[in-house]
Amino acid sequence: MHNHHGQAALITGASSGIGRAYAEHLARRGYDPVLVARRPDRLARLAETIHRDTGRRATVLRADLADASDLARVETAVLEHKGLAVVVNAAAAWADWRRCARRTPGRSTTSSLST
Ligand SMILES: NC(=O)c1ccc[n+]([C@@H]2O[C@H](COP(=O)([O-])OP(=O)(O)OC[C@H]3O[C@@H](n4cnc5c(N)ncnc54)[C@H](OP(=O)(O)O)[C@@H]3O)[C@@H](O)[C@H]2O)c1
Repeated sequence: MHNHHGQAALITGASSGIGRAYAEHLARRGYDPVLVARRPDRLARLAETIHRDTGRRATVLRADLADASDLARVETAVLEHKGLAVVVNAAAAWADWRRCARRTPGRSTTSSLST
C-alpha cells in the first residue's frame, strides 16, 4: 500500500525507455503521471495502459522540449500544478528545467530527477 494518492508526477521522455519505465513505476506507487513527449499517440496508449494496470489517471502533455513555446507550456504545468510532487526529466532535451525549481522556492515537497 502506497500513500501517494492525490499526488502527481510529471515525466518527460515518457513515450519510451527510461521515462516510460518511470511513468509506469510511479503510477504503481500511486502517483497520477503527467506524460510529456512529442508523440501523442504513444503517450495516449501509455495513459490507457497505466489506467488499466494501476487505476491511476495519467494525462498527456504533448510537447517538444526543444521548442520554446512548448517548453513554456511544460514549465507552466510544473509551476502551477499544485499536486505535483515529483518531476523526472528523462527526455534529455530540457537542459534548463531546474529553473522551474528555482522559481518555486515554496515547493519543497517536489522531488526531481534528471537522466
Ligand atoms: N544519466 C545516465 O546515466 C543515463 C543513462 C542512460 C541514458 N541516459 C539518457 O537518458 C535519456 C533517455 O534515455 P532512453 O534510453 O530512455 O532514450 P529513449 O528511449 O530514446 O527515450 C527518449 C525519450 O525522450 C523523448 N524526447 C526526445 N526528444 C524530445 C524532445 N525534443 N521533446 C520532448 N521529448 C523528447 C522521446 O519521445 P518522443 O520521441 O515521443 O518525443 C522519448 O520518450 C537519453 O537522453 C540518454 O542519453 C542517461
